Amino acid sequence: MELAILAKCLLLGLVILWIQIHGNKGCFETERLALLDFKEFVGSNGLDVDYLLSSWVDNSTSDCCKWERVKCNSTTGHVTDLSLNNTRQLDIERVLFSDDENVWFVKFSMFQQLKELRGLNLSYNRIGGFIDDTDFETLSELKKLEVLDLSANYFNNSILSPLNNLTSLKTLILRRNVMEGSFPSKGMFYLNSSLRTSN
Ligand SMILES: *[C@@H]1O[C@H](CO)[C@@H](O)[C@H](O)[C@H]1NC(C)=O
Ligand SMILES: *[C@@H]1O[C@H](CO)[C@@H](O)[C@H](O)[C@H]1NC(C)=O
Ligand SMILES: *[C@@H]1O[C@H](CO)[C@@H](O)[C@H](O)[C@H]1NC(C)=O
Ligand SMILES: *[C@@H]1O[C@H](CO)[C@@H](O)[C@H](O)[C@H]1NC(C)=O
Ligand SMILES: *[C@@H]1O[C@H](CO)[C@@H](O)[C@H](O)[C@H]1NC(C)=O
Ligand SMILES: *[C@@H]1O[C@H](CO)[C@@H](O)[C@H](O)[C@H]1NC(C)=O
Ligand SMILES: *[C@@H]1O[C@H](CO)[C@@H](O)[C@H](O)[C@H]1NC(C)=O
Repeated sequence: MELAILAKCLLLGLVILWIQIHGNKGCFETERLALLDFKEFVGSNGLDVDYLLSSWVDNSTSDCCKWERVKCNSTTGHVTDLSLNNTRQLDIERVLFSDDENVWFVKFSMFQQLKELRGLNLSYNRIGGFIDDTDFETLSELKKLEVLDLSANYFNNSILSPLNNLTSLKTLILRRNVMEGSFPSKGMFYLNSSLRTSN
């Protein structure tokens, strides 16, 4: 009798262990959909996303943690890093302010679902700004964001004030944008940046 109970407990333990090892199907559905939203948005800006983000496929069995440019925490399965630098994969030096062709605007609310995001690299994208003010403010939903690289885009001073809401930010890189003047003193994060002034 005792032995039977022990055996049952053991079996239950094994089942739970098996579920823990095999049950993690990869990324969270909300995060997968948010990434697909971004891909669709990039595509709507005229970029060839089938080539540029080819591993980002709209298939519920596809684990977005294995997609290019995406990193997850292997324990939690949440997306923690997005390397969306140089989305167009252009020659990085040629890209720089040779002209202002193909400037596009980003919808930051797409990143809102990625609650565990720690690093976001949007550098070298020729992003001209955001869709509207409330959109950029949704970035403040990213309570864990520590590293934000916005360098080599066309961001102007209007992004500075909303950035102040990113309380966990440790590194903000704003090199090569079109900012003017001196920074408002904020004292909430380090600003490791050299400014390109518009002239
Ligand atoms: C989704 O991915 C699975 C496994 O990679 C594949 O077998 C299936 O055909 C795909 N479904 C669609 C609709 O592409
Ligand atoms: C993954 O998440 C767990 C739980 O939040 C955390 O303890 C761990 O440090 C994270 N791992 C990495 C590599 O960030
Ligand atoms: C972001 O991407 C750029 C361009 O590839 C790279 O030079 C830079 O080091 C990256 N930033 C961070 C914080 O990793
Ligand atoms: C993006 O930046 C990382 C470094 O953070 C670099 O390894 C990678 O090659 C860059 N991707 C592109 C397409 O430039
Ligand atoms: C600064 O960027 C914002 C957001 O993209 C835009 O609405 C605004 O017109 C820009 N301001 C200047 C002075 O270019
Ligand atoms: C950002 O912070 C300002 C005050 O610094 C506040 O008025 C605003 O509501 C905050 N925005 C969000 C989206 O949290
Ligand atoms: C940014 O500057 C701070 C203070 O000087 C420094 O501690 C930190 O390591 C720097 N971060 C990077 C990514 O260079």
